[in-house]
Amino acid sequence: MNAHKRLIEVTGLVGGYASAEQIVKGVAMGADAGELVTIIGPNGAGKSTALKLISGLLRPAQGHVYINGEDVAGRSPQAIARAGLGFVPQERNIFGSLSVAENLEMGCRFEPGAFKERAAEAYARFPMLADKRRTAAKSLSGGQRQILAMAMALMAKPSALLLDEPTAGLSPKAAHELFDYIRRIAAEGIAILMVEQNALESLSVSDRAYVLVDGRNHLEGTAEAVANDPDIRRLFLGGRSTSSRQSGAAGETSASDSAKQK
Ligand SMILES: Nc1ncnc2c1ncn2[C@@H]1O[C@H](COP(=O)(O)OP(=O)(O)OP(=O)(O)O)[C@@H](O)[C@H]1O
Ligand SMILES: [Mg+2]
Repeated sequence: MNAHKRLIEVTGLVGGYASAEQIVKGVAMGADAGELVTIIGPNGAGKSTALKLISGLLRPAQGHVYINGEDVAGRSPQAIARAGLGFVPQERNIFGSLSVAENLEMGCRFEPGAFKERAAEAYARFPMLADKRRTAAKSLSGGQRQILAMAMALMAKPSALLLDEPTAGLSPKAAHELFDYIRRIAAEGIAILMVEQNALESLSVSDRAYVLVDGRNHLEGTAEAVANDPDIRRLFLGGRSTSSRQSGAAGETSASDSAKQK
């Protein structure tokens, strides 16, 4: 009899892969309509596994996944998509040999009658895709591919969106552009749960954040509070206090980037 206020609300989520120990050991997270929520955590913490359990690619052993108040845990990925969830996995999220337009058509395959109108919306939102509509997806840049993958998910008019490391492997400029789009999509009223390694910048554009460690919630709060948490800074953000400038951080990427906060 809980009042599930958030548009997407996950509680007590447990699950993993066949015949292995559970990877996700009890996770709770959620996002309101219009909210951009970042999920960070060490490699192997179970972030991608959690998204697969939420989207139905893996079947949860325990827990609830509410979308618009409806518990969809354990349903098929198609049924969960129909309930309003879009999922953009990190890899293999587009069809390389198909054109941009054909990829958008795949994103609309459950409602082919809506294709024309929604493709027009996608081209208005992402003008680059309109320019490249006849181009094979495999010849897009990394950033353009991520935009196409997001546009495909949006073709189904989801009310909530899961994004797994949308900026992985992108240049800082392309990542910045993608975060800008993601911010705007949330502002239209979509609830977004976004796993990111690019912790500092993703926190700087997000409303709230969850930190997962070893398959469990470790910390949550406003994105600002998480970004300023001393333990989190040390663990994930390459953070030393800005006053103690040590030179022992050889091999650390972008120490100067990390310190550059808006
Ligand atoms: N297909 C699979 N079969 C069995 N175990 C898997 C599979 N995929 C991932 N795992 C295991 O599950 C654990 C969590 O992996 P997961 O991909 O969820 O982590 P993550 O938090 O997304 O990490 P990263 O930051 O590296 O993306 C790891 O120990 C991994 O080896
Ligand atoms: Mg992952």
